[in-house]
Amino acid sequence: MNPTVRDFLLFTILVVCSKCDNFENELGHITPQADAQTQQQAVLDLINRTIPLRSAEFSVEIQSNLTRQGKDTFAIKEQSGIVHITASSGVAAATGFQYYLKYYCNAHISWEASQLNLPDVLPHVDVEITFNDRFRYYQNVCTASYSFVWWDWNQWEKHIDWMALNSFNLVLAFNGQEAIWEKVYKKLNLTEDDINEHFTGPAFLSWLRMGNIRGWGGPLSKAWHDRSIYLQKRILQRMRSLGIITVLPAFAGHLPRAFKRIYPSVNMTKMARWNDFNDTYCCPYFLDPTEDLFQVIGKMFLDEQTAEFGTDHVYNCDSFNEVDPSTGDLTYLSNVGKSIYSAMTATDPDAIWLMQGWLFYYSDFWTTTERVKSFITSIPLGKMIILDLQSEEFPQYDRLEQYFGQPYIWCMLHDFGGTLGMFGSANKVNENVIKARQEADSTMIGTGLSPEGINQNYVIYDFMTESAWRNEPANLTEWFASYTIRRYGRSDDYIIKAWQILKDSVYNFNGIEKIRGRYAITNTPSLKQNTWTWYEYSDLFDAWDLFIEAADNLGSNPAFLHDLVDITRQVLQVNGDIYYNKLITSFKTKNKDEFQDVATIFMNIFTDLELILSTNKDFLLGPWIESAKACGNDTEEKELYEYNARNQITLWGPLGEIINYANKQWSGVVSHYFQPRWQIFIQNMNSSLETDTKFNESSVRRQMFTEVEEPFTFDKSTFPTEPTGNTVELAKEIHSRWHLSKSSRRSERASGEYVEDVYYFKHYFKENPSIILLN
Ligand SMILES: *[C@@H]1O[C@H](CO)[C@@H](O)[C@H](O)[C@H]1NC(C)=O
Ligand SMILES: *[C@@H]1O[C@H](CO)[C@@H](O)[C@H](O)[C@H]1NC(C)=O
Ligand SMILES: *[C@@H]1O[C@H](CO)[C@@H](O)[C@H](O)[C@H]1NC(C)=O
Ligand SMILES: *[C@@H]1O[C@H](CO)[C@@H](O)[C@H](O)[C@H]1NC(C)=O
Ligand SMILES: *[C@@H]1O[C@H](CO)[C@@H](O)[C@H](O)[C@H]1NC(C)=O
Ligand SMILES: *[C@@H]1O[C@H](CO)[C@@H](O)[C@H](O)[C@H]1NC(C)=O
Ligand SMILES: *[C@@H]1O[C@H](CO)[C@@H](O)[C@H](O)[C@H]1NC(C)=O
Ligand SMILES: *[C@@H]1O[C@H](CO)[C@@H](O)[C@H](O)[C@H]1NC(C)=O
Ligand SMILES: *[C@@H]1O[C@H](CO)[C@@H](O)[C@H](O)[C@H]1NC(C)=O
Repeated sequence: MNPTVRDFLLFTILVVCSKCDNFENELGHITPQADAQTQQQAVLDLINRTIPLRSAEFSVEIQSNLTRQGKDTFAIKEQSGIVHITASSGVAAATGFQYYLKYYCNAHISWEASQLNLPDVLPHVDVEITFNDRFRYYQNVCTASYSFVWWDWNQWEKHIDWMALNSFNLVLAFNGQEAIWEKVYKKLNLTEDDINEHFTGPAFLSWLRMGNIRGWGGPLSKAWHDRSIYLQKRILQRMRSLGIITVLPAFAGHLPRAFKRIYPSVNMTKMARWNDFNDTYCCPYFLDPTEDLFQVIGKMFLDEQTAEFGTDHVYNCDSFNEVDPSTGDLTYLSNVGKSIYSAMTATDPDAIWLMQGWLFYYSDFWTTTERVKSFITSIPLGKMIILDLQSEEFPQYDRLEQYFGQPYIWCMLHDFGGTLGMFGSANKVNENVIKARQEADSTMIGTGLSPEGINQNYVIYDFMTESAWRNEPANLTEWFASYTIRRYGRSDDYIIKAWQILKDSVYNFNGIEKIRGRYAITNTPSLKQNTWTWYEYSDLFDAWDLFIEAADNLGSNPAFLHDLVDITRQVLQVNGDIYYNKLITSFKTKNKDEFQDVATIFMNIFTDLELILSTNKDFLLGPWIESAKACGNDTEEKELYEYNARNQITLWGPLGEIINYANKQWSGVVSHYFQPRWQIFIQNMNSSLETDTKFNESSVRRQMFTEVEEPFTFDKSTFPTEPTGNTVELAKEIHSRWHLSKSSRRSERASGEYVEDVYYFKHYFKENPSIILLN
């Protein structure tokens, strides 16, 4: 081809279609900064931490030129008993390592338990994989508060290993930012008091950062800042050595109230009220991004942060998360976008703006797509990355026409508030990630996990993570079966069958309801709850039967024990929904006898739930509280952090502003919070029935607040940090109480309603009075 024609074509391709080359021009510089040697050593150390006794059988080599169109690649080859991993980055090598463990050795690494019994002779392998996309993103801005807030280095180290093993190469690193802000505020003449009334406590920092609240649960001490800077530096150093690109925050416009005093003539507006937080705790100022001062503060913050932490050139910035701009004027929105971005490039000309796309789904303001277009295309295409934050439920990439040319990442959010409850959309994840990537003019450049909280439903995260390299839909039947073999370390027919049922029920959610961990037992007691599931209860009970059948075979496996607790918890949670409805019906129809029976059964759900949860370390309140206290440097601080920890998972605000949002089905929470609340409610229902007086729900609501909810947050009693009791024995015992006879289940299926179970329980509990622990 004639060189001029070729150059012209090349030019055309690059200019007209920057996404055709995977945004190489715009994002090509977003690569690991550690050299090959450093990444190689970091992966060898990771392997040694993972399998200390077998690590000598692995070798690692990093060749950054192995990437294909900016996409990481790894090759694994066994020769003479040594498994050689060659990869384009540390993350790619770590992923290759896990890929081999997973698919060749049937091993399993998860948040709660790992199964690493490798064959004596490592299986032969010769495979090369290029990832589907440039990026694998991890975290939600809320994960820092719901899951990581009290972590020490040991927990971080383990989790960073998990990130690398699972291919995440673009990860938020949010510790220490308040320490940076404090320096900036002081330079701008804010007093200690100004700063103290602004910073929230540790458990609420995510929402301070988004401008939703201020001061609640605060202030932060020097000891906290020192600790978080120390952690941040260690975290960044480790992530970067593995080749992870760390994402640091940039200035989004939210400022302490004191700024109005210092800059009276600058245009700043109070943020809108968020979730009923009153003026003491809500509404910091929002500095209009088009003000000159925005550039000044934005640059000061990034300069200060870069000096302390360095940079990998990607900055998270969410100015309008659950808060709307003051006007929909298109020119204004475009200017806002430009200003925010130029405050980044003033410090870092290579800056890339990473934004959560949650606002485009959340707020009606952005229903007008022209507004979205003006806002996001004010940044050069490719210099902004949008996280399509809950793609498994509310994808925005089609509505917003591939974000009008801006690259985006397909994220599975899945969990809100770190609440428990088995659910997932395996089908949607399986199909839709691949479809999105293949759409015409797709600007998808990555996949990600964006849960608000972790430590639930590992199976669905494991499955989604594989979207990084899976390029056609998996056979879910086979995938779920092999998942059980890896997770439990052996093949068991009962458990394979159990997980097939779970796959087709709890993990087969295809709707678009908002699932928020709210069930009859976790919600605030009320006469007006709506219970709902998308699967047949009897399917869950069938799966539970099979777990019990498998318990003798698998009972020594920690992941099985975790899952046995979890499914028993789920069954009790579902029974909570079932008996809640019976309770309300018997109350409304004034059927006193039935009310007594159902109330007894309902309260026993909590007793059994507490019992099973207390047998496993992953379901205890104690570690959450103790790790919070451990972050405090003195008694006063320990008390404040304990209060933070207790409040976040219950009232979430002084008066229950978003009560139950981050509820936890943990031993200790059930016995000291969920159960006593319901006890009060039921006692009031009972006396209303007995005395034939009107039930005053708002007065009962008040009683629960003053007698249970608020006292729980101020309480100082300690809870076990170690499990008690034998999971398998107790699960069997609880199973014997709660499993329904096959025949009554049949009748439930036919008529759509439970017919015989109340009868069954009535007799069961009457014959076994010792287990009735109503008081
Ligand atoms: C693994 O770690 C142990 C303990 O830190 C160390 O003694 C050993 O040399 C390491 N092995 C390899 C192969 O790096
Ligand atoms: C990639 O780099 C390695 C050295 O790190 C070199 O041996 C190899 O030839 C390079 N491959 C290509 C295709 O440039
Ligand atoms: C902060 O105070 C100093 C000393 O009073 C003053 O010189 C400076 O202008 C003030 N800075 C700001 C941003 O108000
Ligand atoms: C931590 O507490 C000790 C003793 O209470 C005190 O001397 C020290 O200054 C505190 N450290 C910080 C950073 O506040
Ligand atoms: C906000 O609520 C807190 C806690 O209930 C209370 O102490 C404070 O006075 C309230 N502030 C306003 C402005 O109402
Ligand atoms: C202040 O900024 C808002 C946008 O945030 C704008 O609507 C308003 O007109 C501005 N006011 C002044 C006085 O500039
Ligand atoms: C999935 O795998 C199962 C078991 O191997 C097989 O029976 C089934 O036909 C497969 N489904 C599809 C759609 O390929
Ligand atoms: C309801 O009140 C009656 C009479 O005081 C009492 O016997 C019964 O145990 C109570 N039932 C419940 C569920 O509280
Ligand atoms: C319900 O109780 C509240 C006090 O908690 C009282 O103000 C209200 O009047 C009562 N409502 C009825 C209908 O009795």
